Amino acid sequence: MTGNISAKKVKRGGAKLSTRLLGPFGVFLQGAIKEPGMVGAVFPSSKSTIDNMMKRVDWKNCKLVVEYGPGVGTFTHRLLAHLPEDAQLLAIDTSAHFVEHLDKTISDPRFKPVLGSATDVERIVKEAGFEAADIVISGLPISSLPLEVAEDMVDATYRVLKPGGAFLTYQYRLKARRLTEQAFDRVDKKYVLMNVPPNHLTWGWKAA
Ligand SMILES: C[S@@+](CC[C@H](N)C(=O)[O-])C[C@H]1O[C@@H](n2cnc3c(N)ncnc32)[C@H](O)[C@@H]1O
Repeated sequence: MTGNISAKKVKRGGAKLSTRLLGPFGVFLQGAIKEPGMVGAVFPSSKSTIDNMMKRVDWKNCKLVVEYGPGVGTFTHRLLAHLPEDAQLLAIDTSAHFVEHLDKTISDPRFKPVLGSATDVERIVKEAGFEAADIVISGLPISSLPLEVAEDMVDATYRVLKPGGAFLTYQYRLKARRLTEQAFDRVDKKYVLMNVPPNHLTWGWKAA
């Protein structure tokens, strides 16, 4: 785990009741209660959201995938299941609570949780030893971010992607799609009803 080590200072004095009873959902709920504005959701993404989002990408040719806002790792496990053995997955989250949970529960050598902000993706990718990413997938609550911050994050994402790469978002509101349409060369869209609440899926493609 990189970034501010304060993640390590999160109390370890036995798992909280919600974690013991509810597993990853309990960890997610604690995170949402601690930082509701940053998490922006009460439920993790549904299987239908994940299945639909994963379908359109050729994962076996990826060398670097970056995940923004992994939370408890609902998408992370599926990403690792699809990635080749020599690929890397950088998961960037501002919440020490979630980064520590991921660090403790995922031991895959291809996986690197990073305590930091998606807005610093270019620096984080360089520090990890890469020039560019094949795919960036975002679970950030983009509609809660100030417009300027959201625009900067989407522009930095476009720059950090390889030609032919894509930026994937799954959001209740349409702000992420609008920003992706502004910055990317081609956009695919889908609406997923089987999610609480339903989700807008967007794939922004950078020209090859
Ligand atoms: C709705 S949760 C997404 C959880 C998970 N990806 C899922 O699909 O269920 C949003 C996550 O974004 C994180 N987050 C918010 N702002 C961020 C930022 N600027 N950079 C990185 N992560 C951020 C939150 O801490 C939280 O883990």
